[in-house]
Amino acid sequence: MSKIHLDGLSKSYVTADYTVHALRDAFLDIEEGQSIAIIGPSGSGKSTLINILGLVFKPDSGSVLIDGKRVDGMKDSPCCKFRNANFGYIVQDFALLDSDSVYSNIRIPLIYNKSIPRKEHRTRIKAAAESLGISDKLRRKASSLSGGERQRVAIARAIVCDQPIILADEPTGSLDAENRDKVMDILIGLCKEGGRTLVLVTHDMTVAKRCDRIIRMNDGYILSDDAA
Ligand SMILES: Nc1ncnc2c1ncn2[C@@H]1O[C@H](COP(=O)(O)OP(=O)(O)OP(=O)(O)O)[C@@H](O)[C@H]1O
Ligand SMILES: [Mg+2]
Repeated sequence: MSKIHLDGLSKSYVTADYTVHALRDAFLDIEEGQSIAIIGPSGSGKSTLINILGLVFKPDSGSVLIDGKRVDGMKDSPCCKFRNANFGYIVQDFALLDSDSVYSNIRIPLIYNKSIPRKEHRTRIKAAAESLGISDKLRRKASSLSGGERQRVAIARAIVCDQPIILADEPTGSLDAENRDKVMDILIGLCKEGGRTLVLVTHDMTVAKRCDRIIRMNDGYILSDDAA
């Protein structure tokens, strides 16, 4: 059984003036522990695909199965719970709370996770920050960080609950080569040693080639699916 099975997913954005077919009949099977890179030009549907997989958007048609269970039709409350337990999500614009500290930002998913005891929060936050090289910034306000530091906070927040699936939309977009490689060491290590499944969107072929498979998208279609 696949960890993730996407079956015939389609999604259009309809506005008063135009309709965009952002995703067209997408099929994808991802095994546990695999790392997948989604590449393609701007506007090709990469974020739409990862957001449907992460249950942020509902597809117009098709289905999302995780561990063989259909999950795309869930109501809001069970859906939020399922998302929090299963997906660590690094969003494209980081979505940090600017007026809060780095510590509070990394803590957000822990607050919603009822299966991790409160007394573990501090240790987990410190360990996640340490692995991203931002332990010295835990008291800083998020608004005072550089782009690269913000990105690392977003990644720490996505791994702090140990969810089995990591979704990452351009996780290395604003990092220099050295930090990009460090972040990829962490993400790939979480798959190889930690058994996590990683789906990331990137424009950087150096990043894509470190994953097990590369999915190429254009105009809402999955064009190819190759070993990296
Ligand atoms: N809320 C929306 N309303 C209307 N159109 C949208 C909306 N969100 C996305 N689109 C359109 O859907 C298409 C796919 O968008 P998507 O964000 O999935 O692309 P992407 O491949 O992630 O691009 P990028 O590399 O720039 O992040 C684009 O043409 C985009 O303009
Ligand atoms: Mg995008």
